[in-house]
Order: sequence, then structure tokens, then C-alpha cells
Amino acid sequence: KKQQSDKPTQKDEQLTRHTEDGAEQFLTTNQGVRINDNQNSLKAGERGATLMEDFIFREKMTHFDHERIPERVVHARGEAAHGYFQVYESMAEYTKAGFLTDPSRITPVFVRFSTVAGSRGSTDLARDVRGFAVKFYTEEGNYDLVGNNIPVFFIQDAMKFPDFVHAVKPEPQNEIPQAASAHDTFWDYVSISPESTHMVLWVMSDRAIPRSLRMMEGFGVHTFRFVNEAGKGTFVKFHWKPLLGVHSVAWDEAQKISGKDPDFHRRDLWEAIESGNYPEWELGVQLVPEEDEHKFPFDLLDPTKIIPEEVVPVQRIGKMVLNRNPDNFFAETEQVAFHPGHLVPGIDFTNDPLLQGRLFSYNDTQLIRLGGPNFAEIPINRPIAPVHNNQRDGFMRQTINRSPASYEPNTVAGGCPYQAMMKQGGFTSYQERVDAHKVRGRSESFFDHFSQAALFFNSQSEPEKLHIINAFRFELGKVSRKEIRQRMLGILSQVDTYLAEKVAEGLGMPVPEVLEKPINRVRPADAGPDEYEPKSVPQQVGASAALSMANT
Ligand code: HEM
Repeated sequence: KKQQSDKPTQKDEQLTRHTEDGAEQFLTTNQGVRINDNQNSLKAGERGATLMEDFIFREKMTHFDHERIPERVVHARGEAAHGYFQVYESMAEYTKAGFLTDPSRITPVFVRFSTVAGSRGSTDLARDVRGFAVKFYTEEGNYDLVGNNIPVFFIQDAMKFPDFVHAVKPEPQNEIPQAASAHDTFWDYVSISPESTHMVLWVMSDRAIPRSLRMMEGFGVHTFRFVNEAGKGTFVKFHWKPLLGVHSVAWDEAQKISGKDPDFHRRDLWEAIESGNYPEWELGVQLVPEEDEHKFPFDLLDPTKIIPEEVVPVQRIGKMVLNRNPDNFFAETEQVAFHPGHLVPGIDFTNDPLLQGRLFSYNDTQLIRLGGPNFAEIPINRPIAPVHNNQRDGFMRQTINRSPASYEPNTVAGGCPYQAMMKQGGFTSYQERVDAHKVRGRSESFFDHFSQAALFFNSQSEPEKLHIINAFRFELGKVSRKEIRQRMLGILSQVDTYLAEKVAEGLGMPVPEVLEKPINRVRPADAGPDEYEPKSVPQQVGASAALSMANT
């Protein structure tokens, strides 16, 4: 639809300055000394001991001994590609972000896809969430949209994340299993955490076993905020829509592929790009005026909820194309550091308590994963926008700051980096009014855990429902403790009677009594007409009961 760009982007050119190609060159040490024998260490006689003075051997071995860095604590298994993004029409009415207001701009991107639970060497076809992290190298600085291929999350508050991940990861005594879901600790956790139910339904669906990374949707999950030039805010949910459509494999295929080619997704992405079959996604947004914040039957700040697309349609505002594979997996894919807190003017946070906690976690983990405070200088992480500040020193500092003063303001340096006013592009946080008591707790508006799980189940076709039922049977069938299976059936009976019955039948267990549904109405009585209520109310008993309770 719009101009295709196969020309190197500004980011490609910047990266080229850091690349090295040793073909037809002399082999050297790190000090540039030419090496005359790379096969034999220096010995005291042909059959003698190796000499300590062999600096060539020592340097080579020392570097090798230090090659490994910690894998990501989550999303360790991943692959990435370069590309670009271009907006179709200016979105200036809602945001002042340059890459979303200027249709002539080609913004370089680097995108990393991942599974969540497995280690670096685990299979691509695990039943799991997929990470979908996009780094936009914009002229105003880096903007990271660190999303997933499922639009909701397991928990509502970042405080729970370490416990949740410990439950998802292989069990502590034996590191078994690599698969995210097929074990006691995962099901133990989600069976006592009703807020996880909606996401669990998605993870048991075909969405968790994509056919290809090129055929996956992506979601920002949280509600974010656009801010326009006048300072007006609009709530926004981000979507990536793959132009190849959304496709999955069946579970039986996933298991076979895992055995035959654990790199299936990685290979598919690589080969598609090498052969010029560039994967493409459109960026979609759901926009909600600030005045409508409380008009939904759920809380916009709750990351376990979607805004149904039939209620607020997704507008497709631009296109992303991935057209270049990385030159070096470690230097680029492994060392890239995404962070939901990397914002540019025109985009801001909301108070979603999961998002707020993420803002701490990413930089914190990268300080250890990438060895100190200077990882923003690693080529893949550098913005194309100029960087000037007084942050200095630390392990592995690359930049040689020339100024005789590293503080601001100062009068000795003959000019130092100075603060930008808002109209000069200085980032100004959205002026949200805050007036409340400090509390450790959660709003009641977060307590409806089942309506959207039911909505999701009932949005599925019959074969897709069967896949979900079979996934629950398979996964829960691996759970050794009966009380966990029983509790999980209790949760499912809150979602949909048919689903609970079919899963129970497969497990050879009774369907638990349906408890009174703990559903709260969120929308205040005086919020005006129900313009955001879903129009198609699911017909299943459990679902319709849940929804009607949510709406009364
Ligand atoms: C990676 C924390 C929720 C998407 C990570 C990493 C951490 C983390 C520590 C490793 C980062 C690194 O080593 O570079 C958290 C916490 C969460 C949370 C504390 C909730 C409180 C989410 C959610 C999403 C998400 C809701 C999706 C919207 C990702 C992705 C990556 C990642 C895509 C991999 C980035 C890459 O490819 O390098 N997360 N996460 N996370 N997270 Fe989260």
C-alpha cells in the first residue's frame, strides 16, 4: 500500500560501523598481533608442558571461558529481525509521537519473538505465550512496544510476577519439565489464582501453538495513553495484525515438529526473510476517549481484560515489514534490551499495576544480564537519536565524553547538554491528577475473573473448543495431585459448564458443584448508556450467567 523500503535505514548504517568481517585477513590477537600458529600451544619441548607465557593461548582460552552470559529470566528462547515501520496517515489528533504523525518517515525497527518459559535451547513449538517485542528507533529516541501474542496476562499486579514465574518454570528439585504448563506447580498456581483464568483459556487454545511467527498477532496488553500536542490524552490498546493471517498447528503436529525440528519457528522466520518473503504486520489501535474510562463492564487498567473488538474496533494505522536477518545472533538478538519504560513524547503509561511493576523489572534484570549500566551503548541498543548526558563511568564504558564537567548546570565546560523544553521535544509526563490514600490492595473493579474467559471460550468455533478441551485434558492429565485437578475443574465450572463437564469426563473425575459466581459489577450506575457492552452475549449456561451477573 505504501512505499517499500529496501534501502538501508539509519539504524542499518549505524550498525554497519560496528560490524567486522575477517575474510581474507590475518588472524590476530585482541591486541592486533598476527598469529602464526592457531593449532598448537607453546610448549617446553614437543612433548613438554604448556608454558604460562603463551599469551596467545591464554587470551583465546580466557575469552572462551567467559563467552556465556545469563539467559533472560523469562523469554530466554528467542529470535529477531530488522525491518521498518511506516504510518499510513498522521495520528496527530491523538499523539505527537513523530513516527506516528509523519507518513513519509521510515522508522527502523528490531523485533524479537520468544517463548516465555523454556530455556535458550528449548523447542519453538512448546505450548506457551510468545513474546512480540518491537524496538522502534525513532528520531526522538527509542520506543519499545514489549508485547505478547496473547492480549491478556495471567496476573493483575506485578507483586505476583516472581511467584507466578517460579510456578511456571521447571520445578526446582529436578528442572523438569521444560514445557510451561504440563506440571503440578503451574496448575497449582493457576487453580488458586482465579485472575489467571482468562489467560489460561487462551494458553490452552490454538493461539499458544502458532504455525509461524509470521502468522501471529501481537498485543501491547496494557492500556497505554496517547498524548497529543495540546496535552490531551486518549487511552490506547496496541495490536499487531499479521498480513498472512493468524494460523496455528494442531497439538499432535506441535509435538511431532518439536521432536523433528526444535528450531521450526526460528528457521521459518530466517528462511522467509532470506528468500525475500518479508513478514508484515499492520499496527492497530483501539482508542478510548479519557471521558469514557469508567463506561466499561471491566477496568481499563486490568491487564486480564481485552476491550472486545466489536465494541471498540481496531483501526489499522501503519505497517511493519521485517526485511533483514541479524548478522550476529549474540551481538544483536541476545544483547538487545527491551523495556516497556522506553517511551517517546506522545505515548505514556497508565496506572495498570502490572505495567507499573514492569517499569522497574526490565532495567534491573538487564543490569545483571548485560553486565552493568552501559548496555545502552551496545550497538543494537543505541538510539539513532543523539545521546548527550552526564551519566559516566561504570564497567565497559565506550563513549569518550570530552567535557571537563560531568554535571549540569555548570559554567566551566563552555556549554553543556541542557534540558529541552516541552516544545523542543522534552518528555513531559502526562498530567494525571492523583488524589488518594496509599493502600496495598486492589480495586474491586478488578474482581470479575470469569466473564471474559467465558466470552473467549464461546467466541471459538466447535473444532477450536474441542482443541481447548483436549488441551486441558492433556495438560491436567499430567498433574499428579488430584486436589489440583479438582480445583481446576472448579475454576472451569465458573467459566462454562460444558467445558468443565468435558474436561472432567476426560480426566475421569466428577464435575464440581457450580459455586456462586464471585462477579462484581464494575461500571458505576451513573455512567450513562451502555455503549461499550458486548453486543453478542454468549449462549452457554456458564458464560451467559457470568455475563448477566456482570451486567446487573
Ligand atoms: C522479558 C519481567 C510482564 C513481555 C522480560 C524480562 C523480565 C520481564 C525480567 C527479561 C528482560 C531481559 O532480560 O531483557 C516482567 C514482569 C512482568 C512482565 C515483572 C509483570 C509484572 C510482561 C507482559 C508482557 C511481557 C504483560 C507482554 C505485554 C515480555 C517480552 C519479553 C519480556 C516480550 C522479552 C523481551 C525480549 O525479547 O528481549 N519480562 N514481564 N512481559 N517480557 Fe516481561
